[in-house]
Amino acid sequence: MSKQTILVTGGAGYIGSHAVKALQQVGYKVVILDNLVYGHQDIAETLDAELIIGDTNDRALLDRLFSDRQISAVMHFAAYAYVGESVTQPDKYYRNNVVGTLTLLEAMVAANIKSFVFSSTCASYGVPQQIPITEDHPQSPINPYGATKLMVERILQDFDVAYGLKSVIFRYFNAAGADPAGAIGEDHNPETHLIPLVLQTAMGIREAITVYGSDYPTADGTCIRDYIHVTDLAEAHVLGLEYLLKGNKSEIFNLGNGNGFSVKEVIDAAKQITGKPINVVMGDRRAGDPPALVGSSEKARTILDWQPKYADLNLILQHAWQWHQKRHA
Ligand SMILES: NC(=O)c1ccc[n+]([C@@H]2O[C@H](COP(=O)([O-])OP(=O)(O)OC[C@H]3O[C@@H](n4cnc5c(N)ncnc54)[C@H](O)[C@@H]3O)[C@@H](O)[C@H]2O)c1
Repeated sequence: MSKQTILVTGGAGYIGSHAVKALQQVGYKVVILDNLVYGHQDIAETLDAELIIGDTNDRALLDRLFSDRQISAVMHFAAYAYVGESVTQPDKYYRNNVVGTLTLLEAMVAANIKSFVFSSTCASYGVPQQIPITEDHPQSPINPYGATKLMVERILQDFDVAYGLKSVIFRYFNAAGADPAGAIGEDHNPETHLIPLVLQTAMGIREAITVYGSDYPTADGTCIRDYIHVTDLAEAHVLGLEYLLKGNKSEIFNLGNGNGFSVKEVIDAAKQITGKPINVVMGDRRAGDPPALVGSSEKARTILDWQPKYADLNLILQHAWQWHQKRHA
């Protein structure tokens, strides 16, 4: 197939590294741009891609990168994504996620690169008015992180009108799991996501997993979230890229499983899969945590013909467990 070159920002991070692998599997050449603030050089080095250690805020670097290489499109994963930190340090988030993206988009326009795949988030919806959430659900983020992603979505609309820059915006629900072949996986530091925290507890790296709230209006009282396998996410990115390279119009897609699982269900399934005891501490609700967040991905299935292969909580946990045992051996 195609031997076009794709720039993947944040390609040394969790989802970006899986997208790099998925792109390479169908014949694309990949250049990674990552400042390694949260990414991992050793993970990037397992991928057969050029790694440029640098920042999306560095316009001179971007101009050089675009003039020295024939980049056909950009997949943009680079962002800070800690909701709590975005509340206490909003400047850090607006500068990196909004200004950094704007700098990248300006450099793309100057280099006449017109295809952009963007990592947005279900956090841009805020508290859901109905479940499952569809793409036309009102967006009213309740934290600066979600607001940064919504601002970029708006910038992309305006860049399409003004400069013909076409984008596919993916609003992900909770990315989870790891490469089924075991080579790459999730290693956030600090870690805030439920599944790695649960597995690290099973490994004895953490003493206990805290469940924030057990009195929600859900069947078992714990919050319900939609977990989407990172390899399925990565596949969707390849489909989104190809949709753009065929000359289609800008579009927005949710990427989720369509099925929610409660925190308790995740912990129980992890006990089964790991065969280990998992110490649970019951905590209070956290401000801003909606009882249930579940997305409809029908649009991506219909327009992109996206067919998730690992839409199963047990498979997600198995792959994540395989990776964690290797990473923390
Ligand atoms: N993990 C999820 O469940 C989830 C859900 C919704 C949206 N997202 C979005 O997906 C994207 C990837 O998330 P992730 O979980 O892989 O995070 P991650 O932290 O593992 O990856 C992000 C990468 O971007 C790099 N980076 C950050 N700012 C940069 C900059 N200015 N220049 C160059 N590199 C930079 C980091 O070093 C890191 O390697 C993010 O944009 C995030 O907001 C993630």
